Amino acid sequence: MDSIIVTGNGPLKGQIPIAGAKNACLTLMPATLLSDEPLTLTNAPRLSDIKTMSALLESLGAEVSQLQDGKVLVMSSHALSSHVADYDIVRKMRASILVLGPMLARDGHAVVSLPGGCAIGARPVDLHLRALEAMGAELELKEGYVHAKAPNGLKGGTVDFPLVSVGATENALMAATLAKGTTVLKNAAREPEIVDLADCLRRMGAQIEGDGTGTITIQGVDRLGGATHPVVADRIELGTYMLAPAICGGEVECLGGRINLVGAFCEKLDAAGIDVSETDKGIKVSRKNGRVKSVDVTTEPFPGFPTDLQAQMMALMCTADGTSVLEEKIFENRFMHAPELMRMGAHIDVHGGTATVTGVERLKGAPVMATDLRASVSLILAGLAAEGETIVNRVYHLDRGYESVEEKLGNVGARIERVSGQ
Ligand code: UD1
Repeated sequence: MDSIIVTGNGPLKGQIPIAGAKNACLTLMPATLLSDEPLTLTNAPRLSDIKTMSALLESLGAEVSQLQDGKVLVMSSHALSSHVADYDIVRKMRASILVLGPMLARDGHAVVSLPGGCAIGARPVDLHLRALEAMGAELELKEGYVHAKAPNGLKGGTVDFPLVSVGATENALMAATLAKGTTVLKNAAREPEIVDLADCLRRMGAQIEGDGTGTITIQGVDRLGGATHPVVADRIELGTYMLAPAICGGEVECLGGRINLVGAFCEKLDAAGIDVSETDKGIKVSRKNGRVKSVDVTTEPFPGFPTDLQAQMMALMCTADGTSVLEEKIFENRFMHAPELMRMGAHIDVHGGTATVTGVERLKGAPVMATDLRASVSLILAGLAAEGETIVNRVYHLDRGYESVEEKLGNVGARIERVSGQ
């Protein structure tokens, strides 16, 4: 298993290009199942999760070609040869559940394994299922699989989500595009990935209004066509790299980033004393002198502070001047990075969904273990600011969501290298 070795050093300087969003791409790819014409995605990130989704789509009979070194994906789902999303693929990645809505909407039946993914809490899929039931689907859970049927096709309905779910909104949105009549999704997720999916579906011929707000209205159409769509920039990769100069000083411009993707996060950086400004090419972040100030953070659905940046923000707070309280409101088991940061000398007290971090002057490098995708990158960020060498083990988590991390950070002056393991 590969490891990443980071040696703490001085300020960073330069530019980091931001890739297309993993989470957007993972929901755009299953949209190919809605049409028998090709869907082309440009600005796709080159990540292992994308390969997993390609393998899943191929197992259903779709053709997926990667062009331009993986930056362009051309998918074609002329006819599906299988409607079973097998446990062996689905267990690797929770986003696999997103093939359920499209397959059901197109062909009236689908069998999808219940998902796995990052170990950050129970993460059920009840909201996905409830939404499809509201559109007339008949569902049965048998031996770890969801068996879904809609023999006469899905029908428009009203779905009132009891809590905001990105994935359930995406599944329902895709399914509703081919349902008969009008579907209204209330308390829908407002994440930029939802807007990106709606944009792509509109290019394919779908009739959707209200994406980006809590109520999305979809007028079903008989069929969707092909389209070419650029994947939106990855706001989580953006926020992660914005934290690099915040943690170890210097000035970095994140190319392709926009403030509207990371509004609440920018406000926290500002409160911590970090300079953030939008340029014509992206977002420039700089930290001049002195320690950052402690700030409190509560994770919330968009436009609130994203849970996917909580671990990285905690890494920043580990060396802040003062005490900060980080409240995790989205996932119940998302502080697994805390004990690892404490191995590096951080002072963190975790009680339930609250972590209290008392900043220290400097962290010390140590061997640490990546426990999930965002946790692994938080340890790399912490390593950038630590004295000595930090060895981050189990980096396969990182490769699920960060493209060329060593190269991107190395190019702005970080001392970081990958060591191949057995
Ligand atoms: C997506 C993102 C993930 C991010 C999360 C929250 C992808 C591929 N992943 O995950 O990176 O951390 O949004 O921004 O886009 N829930 C239920 N029942 C359900 C579905 C969700 O109770 O059927 C709960 C979850 O356990 C969680 C909360 O709802 O507590 C939000 O989860 P959700 O927004 O669905 O996350 P994902 O779409 O899985």
